[in-house]
Amino acid sequence: MGRSGAGKTSMRSLIFANYSAHDTRRLGATIDVEHSTVQFMGDMSLNIWDCGGQHKYLDNYMNEQKENIFGNVEVLIYVFDLETANKDSEYTLYDECINNLGKYSRDAKVYTLVHKMDKIPEADLKEAKLDMYRRALAKRSDLFKPEVFGTSIWDNTLFHAWSQIVRRLVPSMSTIERHLERFQKLTEAAEVVLFERATFLVVCSINSDKGAGSNKYMVVSQAIKTYRNRCTAIQSALQSFEIRNRDFSLFIEPFTKSTFILVITTDPEIEPAVTKANIKAAQPHFQ
Ligand code: GTP
Repeated sequence: MGRSGAGKTSMRSLIFANYSAHDTRRLGATIDVEHSTVQFMGDMSLNIWDCGGQHKYLDNYMNEQKENIFGNVEVLIYVFDLETANKDSEYTLYDECINNLGKYSRDAKVYTLVHKMDKIPEADLKEAKLDMYRRALAKRSDLFKPEVFGTSIWDNTLFHAWSQIVRRLVPSMSTIERHLERFQKLTEAAEVVLFERATFLVVCSINSDKGAGSNKYMVVSQAIKTYRNRCTAIQSALQSFEIRNRDFSLFIEPFTKSTFILVITTDPEIEPAVTKANIKAAQPHFQ
């Protein structure tokens, strides 16, 4: 949900339809509501409702269609365009959505994306802008405590936010996490990450060293996405991926029918063949 031009269809197309950021410039305004169903983590279906943000549709959502739009919602993602000139009217629309959600889906989770952050180049100004939204949104509803992410289609932030959103929807997440942690310990890997096969969103990640791991992860994540896009451009599927240098070995392998796994080892004594054999041996367990 969000005003026309905020970037809702762009993000959906980037994550679920392999669009590039450039491709989104060709998108027209969404007519009414576009429903799509994507298979996620094998047998999970995500029903995504992309609600066109033009006035005529918004009025309809808040009146005649409100029960249909706001009933049975698991997650509401509200997209703010940070360049919106009229902040008051933006917050009014947000309030209307939250009020209706409170009536028809009290247990829903709300995420707000402050989108097009690329328009603010300076890191400290980005943070200040996000703080401003966080403060304003925290005051607006007692029932829903929205998580706020700064996002842009031009960098990793959108991917990061959607990974967080979607992993909350996977019912067996704590089991997956527990087993992945055990796998990481047994294989003495520095880092293990599980990616959803279709979207390459991060489902779960385990770092042996939180600080260093998350830094390194951003670089690795960027490399995977670039590689995946290159594969798509030549109509080839991403098979597997391996980087080895003096500091680390990195493997990305198909894992279960709905995931890829990334394993990074930093101990030079761990033979790459052993890591690959461990990945293979763990597959049936995670299937
Ligand atoms: P409606 O369908 O009318 O509700 O609009 P929408 O929210 O779906 O907007 P849409 O995705 O069609 O995007 C509108 C424009 O914003 C497109 O030209 C996109 O290329 C651009 N856009 C989307 N995301 C970003 C972003 O992160 N940064 C910048 N600079 N532009 C973006």
